[in-house]
Amino acid sequence: MSPDSQVSMNVVLVVGVIFSALLGVVLYMRRKMNESGNILSGSNIENLQGKIIVVTGGSNGIGKALVSELAGAGAKVVNGSRRLSELRTGPHPNVSTQNEKSERLSDNIHLDLSSFKSIETFFKEIIQKYGYIDILINNAACMGPKRTSDDNIDYCFQVNYLGHFFLSKLFINNHLKNENRTNQRLTIINLASNVFDMGSFISDNDITSLTNQNAANYTLLNGYANSKLCMILFSTELDRRYRHRGIQTIAVHPGYVKTGLQKHYPGLVGVILRCVASKLFRTPEEAVKGILFCCVREDKAALCGKVLFDGRLMEKWYIETNKELRSQKKAIMLWELSEKILESSKIASTDI
Ligand SMILES: NC(=O)c1ccc[n+]([C@@H]2O[C@H](COP(=O)([O-])OP(=O)(O)OC[C@H]3O[C@@H](n4cnc5c(N)ncnc54)[C@H](OP(=O)(O)O)[C@@H]3O)[C@@H](O)[C@H]2O)c1
Repeated sequence: MSPDSQVSMNVVLVVGVIFSALLGVVLYMRRKMNESGNILSGSNIENLQGKIIVVTGGSNGIGKALVSELAGAGAKVVNGSRRLSELRTGPHPNVSTQNEKSERLSDNIHLDLSSFKSIETFFKEIIQKYGYIDILINNAACMGPKRTSDDNIDYCFQVNYLGHFFLSKLFINNHLKNENRTNQRLTIINLASNVFDMGSFISDNDITSLTNQNAANYTLLNGYANSKLCMILFSTELDRRYRHRGIQTIAVHPGYVKTGLQKHYPGLVGVILRCVASKLFRTPEEAVKGILFCCVREDKAALCGKVLFDGRLMEKWYIETNKELRSQKKAIMLWELSEKILESSKIASTDI
């Protein structure tokens, strides 16, 4: 073999080894990122039998998988969705037993979180039908488009956070009115995300700093991150205010999941996000295990007011290092500002 071909052989060999090593690392990371392990082992999923559970945004992604799992476990699931016409088109031709169960036990009610009026109507219909609920899962979210809601608020901020704040307050008030009669507990699970780390309050007094679409640094990603930071601050403050009244609040990061969340993200960043998601992220079925864990866990005291990922507390990794999340002052400020916005809106009254 000539020295030249020997060199080319070595180059090919080195490139091959580097490529294989990189592929191995990617596949290993993919497996590590996606496996949630057997976190439900030992949990009694049958505990959910007959429970009334509300899931927002249950027609796609994580919410859809959640509705199916919960209904499969025998819960009565209310799916708050904008897509009722699609959901009522009858069973899929290849339904599995699980899906048939879900078809039988889930109740689809119209909900558009970008409208306070729609949220109020959704709540009233549920109370009229069921009287109370056991678990509220604030799951729905969007990452764009960049626009304002029906109530003239940043769309993403309202759908992801403020609409859920309003809906939760309605269920909390209903729970408090009945607490002496029913001795019932209410669990509220808020879908968070570890991108909250990219969110921040710019000014202490100005909520528009969270939502200001005209700010030079406003992007769909930081609008989304801010809304998720709000969901975590909301969870900790809700827990502080109402744990002693029988309300259990837990925030959950579901991991990176292959869903339609990035579908509105524009430009090259959007293309890259969707490509990475489709190749590397976990499936919704894998992601829901961490949420189911919070639903079935009987003793929730150690989880309340915390953020969980796959059944484990996230405090050590993120929360303790994030100054926004360590600040109770910010959580109180957000709560009060959110109430102020609801009060100033003509439609939104939480005292129903
Ligand atoms: N995917 C991830 O990697 C990831 C990571 C961390 C956290 N999360 C969180 O997980 C949760 C679920 O997201 P996903 O990934 O499953 O996203 P998804 O597939 O886009 O599902 C979002 C759901 O929210 C609903 N929704 C959007 N706007 C709504 C509105 N105005 N009113 C009512 N429902 C509305 C959607 O309904 P339509 O079908 O009608 O649009 C859909 O059912 C979100 O809270 C998200 O922040 C996701």
